[in-house]
Amino acid sequence: MTRQRVLSGVQPTGNPHLGNYLGAIRNWVENQSQYENFFCVVDLHAITVPHDPKILATDTYGIAAIYLACGIDLTHSNIFVQSHVPAHSELTWLLNCITPLNWLQDMVQFKEKAIKQGENVSTGLLDYPVLMAADILLYQADKVPVGEDQKQHLELTRDIAARFNHLYGNKGKQRILKQPDPLIRSEGARVMSLTDGTKKMSKSDPSDQSRINLLDTPEQIQQKIKKCKTDPHRGLVFDDAERPEANNLLTLYMLLSGQSKEAVAIECQDMGWGQFKPLLTETTIAALQPIQEKYHAVMADKGYLESILRQGREQAAAIANDTLLKVKSALGYSIPL
Ligand code: TYM
Repeated sequence: MTRQRVLSGVQPTGNPHLGNYLGAIRNWVENQSQYENFFCVVDLHAITVPHDPKILATDTYGIAAIYLACGIDLTHSNIFVQSHVPAHSELTWLLNCITPLNWLQDMVQFKEKAIKQGENVSTGLLDYPVLMAADILLYQADKVPVGEDQKQHLELTRDIAARFNHLYGNKGKQRILKQPDPLIRSEGARVMSLTDGTKKMSKSDPSDQSRINLLDTPEQIQQKIKKCKTDPHRGLVFDDAERPEANNLLTLYMLLSGQSKEAVAIECQDMGWGQFKPLLTETTIAALQPIQEKYHAVMADKGYLESILRQGREQAAAIANDTLLKVKSALGYSIPL
């Protein structure tokens, strides 16, 4: 039996943080042996908001190195860079022409990011979810493991595939593009900010204090947890509605220590913050240390990283170009010989 295919990606903007790891990359690693996997560094998405050309390439390599450092295994998975496979841009254009504008205007992430950009919102930011749909549909992916914030983009991807098949696949009888399923875990899919337990941990938060980056030093981690927002209650409980900070920090402890929710609930039920914070600090430092060591080793060997990305690109392009050809042929394009 052929294995189902997985596709996912992270943007090379800013430092990857615990939200990216616990909401996405960790789940890719845990499930990779069940699937045929394509993990992409989505550098075309990175320029939908203002970016610095001097660091784009280094950040792109950095995310690929983070994938390897977190445990992506090349016997099950391919790692590649989105811009190295031109089919992503080309399919985006073709899908743009069948995607109603109001579908994009309704996207929550667009509205949130657009407010931050003021008058300089680019067409690319509006079109971001179509590029994401192209990333997924090119590979006829069955599953897309992401954090909670990407759910709406996945629904849009499914809608675009269905619309394309309806318009150009004999009213949907021919399945030219496969509708993917999101894989969103119940725990860790929405890691919250350290400075406000009701806000998502995010690379774009101006305060670095709000997130733990995967490459933070032990001193930075200690200082961020020491200063992070808590509540005045004694005894720590998982309670998303009434105690968002306690809920978030206990969830981090649970996931990073690899314990069950029940075990953590019992261990921490009588603790105060003064006892819990050093425990979380120690656990976080210990969980990130092997990732950081592997990251630095991979980054020190650029030739190795480039060879992985070249191989990943070849594997990816073969599948992507095949889908692109099917889409162009369904749209009526003449195919050059
Ligand atoms: P990006 O780089 O913003 O996020 C990468 C992954 O991290 C997850 N994530 C979180 N999970 C839990 N808690 C958080 N606080 C948190 N913050 C981020 C995101 O859900 C995501 O899974 N648009 C995508 C990138 C993308 C993509 C794709 C993903 C482009 N093409 C195709 C899957 C398939 C994004 O938000 O990247």
